[in-house]
Amino acid sequence: MLKTVAASLLRPGMFLHSLDRRWLDHPFWKNSFLLTVIDIEKIVASGITSIVIDTDRGLSCSEDCQGEPVDPFDAGSSAAQTGDDQLFVTARTQLPRRPVGEEIKHAKRLFESASNEMKVVFQQARMGRAVSGTSMMPLVQSIAASVIRNPYALTSVARLKHHDGYTYMHSVAVCALMTALARELELDEQGVLEAGVAGLLHDLGKALMPLAVLNKPGKLSVEEYEVAKKHSYDGWLMLQSADVSAGVLEVALHHHEKVNGRGYPHGLKDKAIPLLARMGAVCDVYDAVTSERPYKSSWHPTQALRSMASWEGQFDKTILAAFISTLGIYPVGSLVRLESGFLAVVLDQGSRSILAPTVKTFFSCKSNQPVFPQIVDLKKLKGADRIVAIEDPKQWNLPQLNDLWLNQVGPFA
Ligand SMILES: [Fe+2]
Repeated sequence: MLKTVAASLLRPGMFLHSLDRRWLDHPFWKNSFLLTVIDIEKIVASGITSIVIDTDRGLSCSEDCQGEPVDPFDAGSSAAQTGDDQLFVTARTQLPRRPVGEEIKHAKRLFESASNEMKVVFQQARMGRAVSGTSMMPLVQSIAASVIRNPYALTSVARLKHHDGYTYMHSVAVCALMTALARELELDEQGVLEAGVAGLLHDLGKALMPLAVLNKPGKLSVEEYEVAKKHSYDGWLMLQSADVSAGVLEVALHHHEKVNGRGYPHGLKDKAIPLLARMGAVCDVYDAVTSERPYKSSWHPTQALRSMASWEGQFDKTILAAFISTLGIYPVGSLVRLESGFLAVVLDQGSRSILAPTVKTFFSCKSNQPVFPQIVDLKKLKGADRIVAIEDPKQWNLPQLNDLWLNQVGPFA
């Protein structure tokens, strides 16, 4: 049976019968197919308001196919369900994207609870208990749903780690980054979730690492480094008995390989390193260098991306480029100087204007004085003001910098 469905009510598993425009005018190379999350995004982004579905070949809509979309954030709505349906619900209502300032509130709670959950997983692994990939799925779905609502919120919040439990927080951070990168690379739903599970479990082998090495507040000796390097093999071995995919196993084993063959444990080169492991390598290093540790200060996100791009032979260049595109040229939380002479922190970036993000000005370089914070959408200024430099926060002694983007309230310019 053919039904016309509003774009806002589409969900993965529906079968697209036809679009309301010519083939040349829509973003697909074919006219009829089973819809995925990414297809639905493309349909909504391209301005198509309704499509015709074939309910004999895919899912139908429940009642009124032209009705209003459900608010997924309304706890009383059917969208407040959990489990497999959560992503479906999120997918059909994800555009327009939730503002990063709103998603950050949720992301902070999620990051905390997910890190606690990972602490338990590591503790159980340390005691020799088997890890269950299936039991990780609700957590991965929650993380993926946050990334779908806004890719900059959780990936930015996850940079702010406290020193206790770094390994667990790092696992959650890499899960969020892997999920966001998988979506940028247009992996299908299954691929996005697999990347998320792989992120959560990539360092599971550290559960077996001697605590003196794992928690050493300084540079490892040559002998200690050899011990630390075992964690990728140990993790792979521990996951053999877990119900996880081959891709998750490959990330555990190969996330320290380098495309020039100088990584470990096997010194694989280029495409011999599985795709998910090449993605894992990028996400793992980015999160490590942008995190504060007892023995080193954190790198600014832009500085991290620039440095990583300059490390010849370490990463797959295509994947690194996609990763930079995922976070934006000016990641949320970046400190920038405007042509007008103000210092500002990046709050959010539009998908079509990566050079003109939304920022919050708070300091005048001309008067060398703080100013009342103002939120400015540089895109709307159409060149009247623009970013002229990325600044190093350490040069400015700004202990409250993170509060400026974590608490996104303030007057709009
Ligand atoms: Fe690792």
